[in-house]
Amino acid sequence: MNSKQVVLITGSSTGFGRLFTETLARKGHTVFATMRDPGGRNAKNASEIRALAEKDSLPIHVIEMDVTDDASVERAVNAAVAKAGRIDVAINNAGYFLGGLGETVTTEQAQRLMDTNFFGPVRVNRAVLPHMRRQRSGVLMYISSGAGRVVLPSGGFYCASKFALEALAESYSYELAAQGIESVIVEPGAYETPVIGNAVTGADKARTNTYGAAKEFPAKVGGALASTAGNAQDVADAVLRIIETPPGEKQLRYFVSPQDWGVDEINALSKRVQANMLEGFGLTADTRFLKGKAVGSA
Ligand SMILES: NC(=O)c1ccc[n+]([C@@H]2O[C@H](COP(=O)([O-])OP(=O)(O)OC[C@H]3O[C@@H](n4cnc5c(N)ncnc54)[C@H](OP(=O)(O)O)[C@@H]3O)[C@@H](O)[C@H]2O)c1
Repeated sequence: MNSKQVVLITGSSTGFGRLFTETLARKGHTVFATMRDPGGRNAKNASEIRALAEKDSLPIHVIEMDVTDDASVERAVNAAVAKAGRIDVAINNAGYFLGGLGETVTTEQAQRLMDTNFFGPVRVNRAVLPHMRRQRSGVLMYISSGAGRVVLPSGGFYCASKFALEALAESYSYELAAQGIESVIVEPGAYETPVIGNAVTGADKARTNTYGAAKEFPAKVGGALASTAGNAQDVADAVLRIIETPPGEKQLRYFVSPQDWGVDEINALSKRVQANMLEGFGLTADTRFLKGKAVGSA
């Protein structure tokens, strides 16, 4: 594989996605910086990124993708492949935080959250995998969260969306390894991005009346996260290092965080438990990463 890779990123308008775009492109990787509505709600962000690419001659292409829309995802992936001929890395980054006591969250709010944070990556994976299979290589990267491994009171639905994402990503990793396709889950702790300003809160506030001290959970958790938030560039630097790690040498999970939430401990235990489980089911050999070897290929 060429050391300069073709990377497709979802949710590149702001925050991590935007930092990944610039950080990877400055190292010579071709980036398809996807975002919803680059001609409207994200017109300013899109034109800033295009201007930066122009000024510094960076290999960045801004294209439209709404991860909640199958047709939009297909169009973006096809456009990237038409332009670059391949997609080496798909970074499932688009997502948002939904906070508030669980009972205040309406079913519609919960479904909308899952449609972005969980079904978004489902759509992106379905669109990119045929291309990666043809290439016999590729990396599916997921921007999960430390909150995809530990549970924050008043962040239950967000945690559920990231726990669901973690389970699916890990399952894909076992299923796809023998086809030369790697899976990487990045679990950031709290970082300074627009994520808090873009957060949604449970709509049915009347449901909090009986909760007493628990009513303060959202403020306490939010305050604790905000007061220890790290520099988001650290996550972009970690993503660059991971992408430049040779095929077959990447870890499944990377907890990247200014706070120690014990996630490394959970990941280490989970790795042992999963390895034993795979062994017990007789799946160890078939879940091993095989570089450049598509199943069924000669
Ligand atoms: N910052 C943290 O502390 C932290 C910690 C752990 C994990 N994360 C995760 O990191 C990822 C990026 O968040 P961030 O912190 O960088 O916050 P952010 O600046 O709010 O970025 C979120 C991005 O997702 C995009 N997005 C939302 N819905 C979308 C959709 N339907 N289609 C396409 N794009 C969509 C947003 O685009 P619009 O501009 O169009 O809204 C935005 O570009 C999220 O998955 C988040 O859960 C963040």
